[in-house]
Amino acid sequence: MIYSVLKRLLFLRDPERVHDLMLARLATAGNSAAGRALLHSFAGAPISSPVHAMGLLFPHPIGLAAGFDKNASAIPALQALNFSFLEIGTVTPRPQPGNPKPRVWRFPEANTLVNALGFPGEGMNVVRERLEELRERKLIRVPIGINLGKNKDTSAESAPSDYLAVFRELSDAGDYFVVNVSSPNTPGLRDMQSVESLKLILHPLLELRAKSPKPLLVKIAPDLSNDDVIAIARLVREFALDGIVSANTTINRAQVPRAASLDRGGLSGSPLYPRTLHLAKLLRSELKAEQTLIAVGGIDSAGRVKEMLEAGANLIQIYTAFIYEGPRAVRNLLEGIG
Ligand SMILES: Cc1cc2nc3c(=O)[nH]c(=O)nc-3n(C[C@H](O)[C@H](O)[C@H](O)COP(=O)(O)O)c2cc1C
Repeated sequence: MIYSVLKRLLFLRDPERVHDLMLARLATAGNSAAGRALLHSFAGAPISSPVHAMGLLFPHPIGLAAGFDKNASAIPALQALNFSFLEIGTVTPRPQPGNPKPRVWRFPEANTLVNALGFPGEGMNVVRERLEELRERKLIRVPIGINLGKNKDTSAESAPSDYLAVFRELSDAGDYFVVNVSSPNTPGLRDMQSVESLKLILHPLLELRAKSPKPLLVKIAPDLSNDDVIAIARLVREFALDGIVSANTTINRAQVPRAASLDRGGLSGSPLYPRTLHLAKLLRSELKAEQTLIAVGGIDSAGRVKEMLEAGANLIQIYTAFIYEGPRAVRNLLEGIG
């Protein structure tokens, strides 16, 4: 109720500025016990429904997708808002500004966003320091995923060393790791979803994982053909990875006419759902039972949560629904787990 009033004001302003402002406010509120308690009172009491996956314990299945907190700046606040796990990033080895602005657009008529951010971020060293400090202060109480990326100016040939650098730097600081080869906003990135390119990225990561064991997953694009998705799922089986995050944003604009004129960016939110549900069923039939499926894309109602879990997802992530629903988003979606 309060959020619907606030949202009307916030939605008058540029989406990225609002995001930066809210993230800064969350970071400040999360710094004190009183701030966290206030946030938690806005969010409502969560429903407990523990999930064991990837050797980790999650209080319930609903977490925050990558991209909201790219630099690990608001973790205590996001926990207070009931997320059962947080995927930080995409983290790149070096800091970078991302693509030119404007680069985030809202389409409320379709519960959709389009973003062309291109991994702006402070780089892996800053993220490691923040996570270490939070762990020292015992402020982290849910599993933390790290979404791994490459810098924009890193060539395709050198991409494997970027993914390895971030994995190595953050392997003690994160609880699970996701190889992101599916953002449409870094030129050439999605080409790395070919099985041959993926193998080149995964080999060094697996060598490191053998020494410092941490769950490793791959995040795919919803725009891949079913055959390509099956090929990746088989690679994930063959390489004994821990699972798949499905899916990233889409370049398809068919269902949001007002977004059709945007010549860049990935679309998120409600229109993704039919594809991500189909992918969940397909992936569940290809992956081993012990491999984790994290479903993400257009999950914005308790009914959709229920359907995704029934389709075989172990865990759920949201991003766009959080923007449109506000602090009670997780509580409301948890009605679907019963
Ligand atoms: C503004 C914005 C930024 C995002 N940044 C990232 C990112 O850095 N890395 C990533 O893997 N996914 C990123 N995503 C994709 C989300 O993690 C998620 O896969 C996608 O939005 C679909 O979920 P949703 O419909 O619940 O938003 C971003 C999404 C949005 C809307």
